[in-house]
Amino acid sequence: MTLEELKQRVAQIDWFHTIDLGQGVVTPGRDPTPAKLQTLGLPEDLSGKTVLDIGAWDGFFSFTCAQRGAEVLATDHFCWNGTGWGTKAGFELAREVLDSPVRDREIDAMDISSAAVGTHDIVLFLGVLYHLRHPLLALEKVAEVTRERLILETEVDLVDLRRPAVAFYADTGLNDDPTNWWAPNAAALRGMLQAVGFSRIVVMRKPRPLPLRLARAMKQQLTQGKSCSREYTRDRMVVHAFK
Ligand SMILES: C[S@@+](CC[C@H](N)C(=O)[O-])C[C@H]1O[C@@H](n2cnc3c(N)ncnc32)[C@H](O)[C@@H]1O
Repeated sequence: MTLEELKQRVAQIDWFHTIDLGQGVVTPGRDPTPAKLQTLGLPEDLSGKTVLDIGAWDGFFSFTCAQRGAEVLATDHFCWNGTGWGTKAGFELAREVLDSPVRDREIDAMDISSAAVGTHDIVLFLGVLYHLRHPLLALEKVAEVTRERLILETEVDLVDLRRPAVAFYADTGLNDDPTNWWAPNAAALRGMLQAVGFSRIVVMRKPRPLPLRLARAMKQQLTQGKSCSREYTRDRMVVHAFK
């Protein structure tokens, strides 16, 4: 493929991930993917490890794990079968250009099982949990296929609450996106991971705490039975959960 052909093919795709394809070509993803990678705590050396990437989309994290020495299976469904926000074209073009050995399998997250995809040393579950209608059941399936370590990145909400709590979005309440259903707070996420069989949970990225003044004002509103704005109680969180 000539550089001109590569640029033309890149331009025809609606990219989510920002992927450096070499020769000065970087995919125009709407996601700041290299910056996200810095928050994950992904081991630098993955030689001899197998990795399962659930919800891989354009495949940035799958390709990165392969570059770090892992044998990788990338999976997706919603964004690969054309009914979601994207297609599989970005994944396929990037894999071709990067000459990556990443294998792929189109499978819904809720159909993940050891019988379907085997078990893997490391499982990536990045930006997927809150898109699922049955998050605890999904985590059970994820735990079943994880041998050592799950790396999970998610939206969190209700971060001002210490007790385990999960926010439910009945409509388009989270980012105006009807495919978002639930977001746990840190305590709920920890409890859910323990409930499905992970023994040790290490937080790699904490949700930012609420400014104290805001937290006090919200507490006051709640104790007075008033509803309060919750736009500041959301953030992202990354955890590693070990078997
Ligand atoms: C926000 S994107 C995250 C993509 C990538 N993991 C990342 O972190 O950049 C959500 C991904 O979850 C996938 N997804 C959503 N629902 C799914 C489902 N039921 N089964 C499999 N993948 C799903 C989407 O197709 C999409 O690739």
